[in-house]
Amino acid sequence: MVRFGCDGKGAQMSEAGAPASSDEFDCFDLALLTRAERYKILTGAVIPRPIAFVTSLGPDGLVNAAPFSQFVILAVDPGLLGFSVGPRLAGSHPKDTLANVRAAREFVINMVPEGWEDVVQRASDEHPADVSEVDLLGFRTTPSTRIKTPRLSGSKIQFECVLDQIVNFGDAPNHLVVGKVVAMHVKSGLAQDCKIDPKAYSPIARIGGRNYVRLGDLVKA
Ligand SMILES: Cc1cc2nc3c(=O)[nH]c(=O)nc-3n(C[C@H](O)[C@H](O)[C@H](O)COP(=O)(O)O)c2cc1C
Repeated sequence: MVRFGCDGKGAQMSEAGAPASSDEFDCFDLALLTRAERYKILTGAVIPRPIAFVTSLGPDGLVNAAPFSQFVILAVDPGLLGFSVGPRLAGSHPKDTLANVRAAREFVINMVPEGWEDVVQRASDEHPADVSEVDLLGFRTTPSTRIKTPRLSGSKIQFECVLDQIVNFGDAPNHLVVGKVVAMHVKSGLAQDCKIDPKAYSPIARIGGRNYVRLGDLVKA
């Protein structure tokens, strides 16, 4: 615990030099953690995260599917979505999604409906590049309208994207894949005047580890 101290040496100090550790807070200096610990504490804190279930085209037209919860709207004008691809746990070659997107310059982000928790988790297992998670896990696909990469049937909202840019962050590094949305598919009846009914939509989100959450109470501010 001492190792997590905010003075960089072990003791937990405030900016003024007084001990920062109190009954109320533990202060973590992220630089003193291992990579695995940093990952655990950051992904446990920034929750809930929506999940981009990304389909991409591999060599020979193989359809790859993998979930990414470091996922964000980067711009509205035009619509740009980004997800961050980290390094593999073992080996130095890029994750299949990153390699595919670099080559094909397009992908689909499929939002994840309730009931897909287990299958999304299994899609994240590392498979060789010549194994399609779509075939392996029994997904059905629907052709896209503006790109070649297919969408996942059963997902209630899908974004067809063309690659805008890939930006590197950090030392590992993480690659932020930015896609321009060229077509957005919303299940019939979900949107009225572009307002999406969140209850009917009900995507799942990821919290720490293998845990997911569903939408709970809606609170009006
Ligand atoms: C719900 C969920 C969210 C994930 N989010 C990310 C993420 O944001 N970035 C990342 O690099 N890996 C993430 N992963 C791990 C990847 O899905 C995993 O590395 C996968 O094997 C990559 O597949 P690919 O090689 O086919 O691209 C996540 C896994 C799960 C289960």
